[in-house]
Amino acid sequence: MSSFKIAILEGDGIGPEIMTEATKILNLVSERNNVHFDLCPAPFGASAYFSHGHSFPEETKAVCDEADAILKGPIGLSHEESKKIPVDMQAERGALLPLRRRYNTFANFRPVYLPRELAHFSPLKSEIIGNGIDFIIIRELVGGLYFGNKETGINEDGKRFVNESLEYDEDQIRRIARVAFDTARKRKKVLHNIHKSNVLKSSVLWNEVIGEVGESYPDVEIIHILVDAAATYLCLNPGQFDVMVMENMFGDILSDQGGGILGSLGLMPSACIGPNKAYYEPSHGSAPDIAGQRIANPYSMIGSVAMMLEMSFDMEDEAKKVWHAMQSVFAQGFSTPDLSKPGADVKMISTDGFGDMVAEELVKQ
Ligand code: NAD
Ligand code: IPM
Ligand code: MN
Repeated sequence: MSSFKIAILEGDGIGPEIMTEATKILNLVSERNNVHFDLCPAPFGASAYFSHGHSFPEETKAVCDEADAILKGPIGLSHEESKKIPVDMQAERGALLPLRRRYNTFANFRPVYLPRELAHFSPLKSEIIGNGIDFIIIRELVGGLYFGNKETGINEDGKRFVNESLEYDEDQIRRIARVAFDTARKRKKVLHNIHKSNVLKSSVLWNEVIGEVGESYPDVEIIHILVDAAATYLCLNPGQFDVMVMENMFGDILSDQGGGILGSLGLMPSACIGPNKAYYEPSHGSAPDIAGQRIANPYSMIGSVAMMLEMSFDMEDEAKKVWHAMQSVFAQGFSTPDLSKPGADVKMISTDGFGDMVAEELVKQ
């Protein structure tokens, strides 16, 4: 029987609620497949700062180092609450970015997917959606503005100033480009390269390297689009996209827009892949506005489990069944409140109600 160690970092806000549903599904998958998952919970995020004095404690690093994969819930506090923690120890700078850096998880896969049967969840008109929404954002995750040189201080004129730089070298661009071309090759063989080369020198280099890597993928068409225009096309004609590749910050923003056109960030799982370690997390945050109410949508967290099954444990068939189980719960007219529009005929379910129904559907398959 194969056995995998999974670090479980439940995080903050809605993190614990949606992680409970994800581990429910993991335990079921383990029973059904004769696979052992050794779930190792560890403190991470703002809650870890308050309980352990650090948002990424040493003991959590040890658990993650040992793990075959890491499943992470969202971290972070509301704008007001986060002021209780020193800036560099806040969950984003103190835990999440160090996690990404530690495991060099440069390739972030953010699928934006809504089958035709669930198109009513989207705020877009049905004639725009057509057969549904189905594309993937591949976001570079350990470079760019997030990890560039940062300087703050007082300048010669006595003014406070900040300087943070958007840094990439060609190797960093080349490796994410290869991931993107490989993904495009497995899908529709079209790669949309999102950039801002009319202003940013970083995009000029980015585009050069994309073109060079593209020479090894003559079967994949490259379409270059400026990031601002891409934001519009995502609303007006999302069907033109299949695989999109972009630098870190563009990917952060456009992937949340992806959640917007699906109808909720609760539909956005993700995978963050490095050379030797991968971690999986929803694309969204800790949703402090709805935490503790049992109304968060756990699709993003359970979807992150499905991505882990496929990408870390080679369990592609079971991953497909998990996706299918979640979509069939929605297709039966059930939904968490984030996806229900005023006056819509939906059967409202709680976070745990959704997890239970997904488990029931999975058992049937
Ligand atoms: P957010 O993504 O937490 O929430 C934005 C909106 O989406 C809110 O209205 C929220 O209720 C809703 N939402 C998000 N996930 C949902 C779900 N699963 N079900 C139903 N509704 C959902 O963004 P924010 O409020 O700007 O940020 C809150 C905190 O999360 C901040 O501290 C931020 O830094 C952090 N954050 C963390 C991550 C991460 O851990 N990867 C990602 C994004 C933001
Ligand atoms: C995300 C989040 C993070 C990011 C924050 C919390 C650091 O918004 O994963 O999209 O900007 O990468
Ligand atoms: Mn984000």
